[in-house]
Amino acid sequence: MSEDSKMSGNLPNNTQLADEEIVKSHVELTKIKHEPTKNFLMAPLVFVFLFGCLIFVCSIQLAYSTNYFQLHPPIEVVELSPEEKEALRLERKITSGEKIFAARCASCHQANGLGIEGQFPPLAASEWVTADAGVIANVILKGLKGEIVVNGKTYGTSAAVNMAAVPISDREIANVSTYVRQAWGNSAPEVTEDLVSELRSEYSSKQDQWVGNELRALYSDSFGN
Ligand code: HEC
Repeated sequence: MSEDSKMSGNLPNNTQLADEEIVKSHVELTKIKHEPTKNFLMAPLVFVFLFGCLIFVCSIQLAYSTNYFQLHPPIEVVELSPEEKEALRLERKITSGEKIFAARCASCHQANGLGIEGQFPPLAASEWVTADAGVIANVILKGLKGEIVVNGKTYGTSAAVNMAAVPISDREIANVSTYVRQAWGNSAPEVTEDLVSELRSEYSSKQDQWVGNELRALYSDSFGN
């Protein structure tokens, strides 16, 4: 048997229907219909309604967040004057200093800068704080021991209560000193990072803490008496 005759032999007989028969079966088929639905279906309507609501809410949200569909809103260029830039820089420095103070100093000198009588001297209204910027920077760099008088009261009478060097960066020392010099009614100029760096290298070989009188002698001009 050849290939062709094998294939045609396998075809089902009904492929050879007469035209008449095809028409007849089509008529039969068109008669088969779905049962007519009683009442109409709610589900599609509910979905259409829900999608409608969704699109409505989304477009309101989009209008709101794009400022009424502005695709390319004009960029507002805020030009700060040099004074404003300077004020902003100082404000940031003080904010940073306040955080450092809370973390590294407030445990002794207290958050209100008033210290604890007999132990930790106050920083509020203290001439040690508002004297030359070098005083406070040196105290933080190396620490302080021995007797000092702050606001008429003597501190450091016991060797057990002294201040150790606070191991923070020059920038942090500048920030925290600037904060302390301008907090609680204090009003002294800022302390620069450069000054702290200079002092750090100038006294790099100094091992022990400062003694109050040493600092007073070093910065005698800036103390009241
Ligand atoms: C462990 C406690 C302690 C910590 C922490 C500490 N201090 Fe002191 N501080 C002292 C003591 C005690 C003295 C007084 C030392 C003395 O009598 O010789 C002092 C003295 C000072 C003085 C000079 C006196 C005065 O009251 O003005 C300054 C300024 C000062 N500290 C600033 C700071 C700053 C800023 C920090 C944080 C970076 C700090 N201290 C962290 C205990 C502390």
